[in-house]
Amino acid sequence: MTINLAVFASGRGSNFKAILDAIEEGKCDAKVLCLVTDNPAAAAINYAKEKNIPVLIFERKNYKTAIDFDNAILFELKKYPIDLIVLAGYMRIIRSKDFLNYYKNKIINIHPSLLPKYPGAHAQKDAFEAGEKISGLTIHIVNEILDGGPIIFQHKVDISDCKSAEEVANKILKYEHIYYPFIIDQIAKGKIVLSKF
Ligand code: GAR
Repeated sequence: MTINLAVFASGRGSNFKAILDAIEEGKCDAKVLCLVTDNPAAAAINYAKEKNIPVLIFERKNYKTAIDFDNAILFELKKYPIDLIVLAGYMRIIRSKDFLNYYKNKIINIHPSLLPKYPGAHAQKDAFEAGEKISGLTIHIVNEILDGGPIIFQHKVDISDCKSAEEVANKILKYEHIYYPFIIDQIAKGKIVLSKF
C-alpha cells in the first residue's frame, strides 16, 4: 500500500531527489506529503517545489529550545496523515520526547557508515582517517539515542581505493540513492515491519 512520507532534509537533498525519482519510476510505493527543513537555503527545497510538494521551513533561531523547535514541527506535521518520517541528510537530533513518542517506530534515518561505527556528522571523514578499507551505509529507526536506533539495513562499500574523504562520501552516496528508496518500498509493501525491530 502506498505510504505517506514526510521527508526531512537540511541541505543538498540528493537522497530526497533519489526518493522522488524512484517514486516517479514506480520503484517506490510512496507519496511525499511534505518536505521539512531547518535551512531556508536548502537545495532540497527546489526539488520539492518542482513537484508541488509543500515545504515546511523551521529555523532553530526562532525557538528558545531544541525541544520547542521539535514541538513546533510536530504541531504542523500532525496536520498531515503521515505514515513514515524519512530523515534524508537532516543534520539535527530530534530531542522532543513528545515528537519521538508520537512517531514511535515511524522515523527512519540514513547514515553514511556502518553503525555503530562512526556516528555523527562526519562519518565518511572519520572512516577515511581511521584507514578503514570497508565502510558503507546504515538505515535505522530513529529513537532518543544519536545514530543508535535499531538497524534495519546495512550495505558494505569497499573504500580501499578512495584517496580522500570526499571520494568515500561520493562512493557511499551512490548506494544511499539505491537503497533508501528500496527500503522505503519494502516498508510500504509490509516486507519490513518497523515495530518488529
Ligand atoms: C548523506 O550522505 C547522508 O547519509 C548524510 O548526509 C548526506 C546528505 O546528503 N547524513 C548524515 O550524515 C546523518 N548523520 P543529501 O542532502 O545529498 O541527501
